[in-house]
Amino acid sequence: MNLIPATNYDEASKKAAEFIAVQIKGKSDSVLGLATGGSPVGIYERLVDAYRAGLDFSQVRTVNLDEYVGLASDHPQSYAYYMHTNLFRHINISLDNVHIPDGTDRNIQQQCASYDRLIGELGGIDLQLLGIGHNGHIGFNEPSTEFTKGTHCVDLTQTTIEANARYFERETDVPVKAYTMGILHIMQAKKVLMIACGSDKARILHRAFYGPVTPEVPASILQFHPNFTLIADNQALQYFNKNTLN
Ligand code: GLP
Repeated sequence: MNLIPATNYDEASKKAAEFIAVQIKGKSDSVLGLATGGSPVGIYERLVDAYRAGLDFSQVRTVNLDEYVGLASDHPQSYAYYMHTNLFRHINISLDNVHIPDGTDRNIQQQCASYDRLIGELGGIDLQLLGIGHNGHIGFNEPSTEFTKGTHCVDLTQTTIEANARYFERETDVPVKAYTMGILHIMQAKKVLMIACGSDKARILHRAFYGPVTPEVPASILQFHPNFTLIADNQALQYFNKNTLN
């Protein structure tokens, strides 16, 4: 693991955006795997700044990790809406090059197969950005008895529903299912970058990276990724011995 500590969320966002900018400058048609949630918002702000300062997204291709089942792309809590609002509409990316699972497709098999096919056609993911859920989920790969492979439809756990309820008017409005890329896709990305900030992420980060590799903590599989970088602030790293992980 490559550990990049930061003093706070702003610095972590800046370092993560720089990491992504270096990827795009090195390969202008990079396939970026993108994440949603609160953690990457600061990164996307910085990437918009980088675009305004000259970073070219015109050849960049993106695949998002996940989407709620039942939410259309114009629903304010859909991840498609989030991506357009926080990033895509502010940069010169071609909308033909952005990909997000279609939450309105109720044909689970068809939606999952077509997303898997798409990732294959793009040639896989060059850099996958991740946050981490409090139970160790990545994308929407919830704790389980086995590591998932390709795109699939998950039943969200109660803790994830509660954590994401802050974005909805009522907890009962949170969709109970989501499409998500599988763990295999994430592990096949050439590089993986995780951002985690705040003391509420400290315990799960420690469990994921000091504990056993187990599907009960999906993020723990990243211990085996050959090119994994964690950017985290001091609060999230409070249980880490920073000398033992590099
Ligand atoms: C959601 C997303 C994940 C994200 C996680 C943590 O469940 N599906 O991709 O990593 O929340 O979100 P946050 O960054 O808001 O803590």
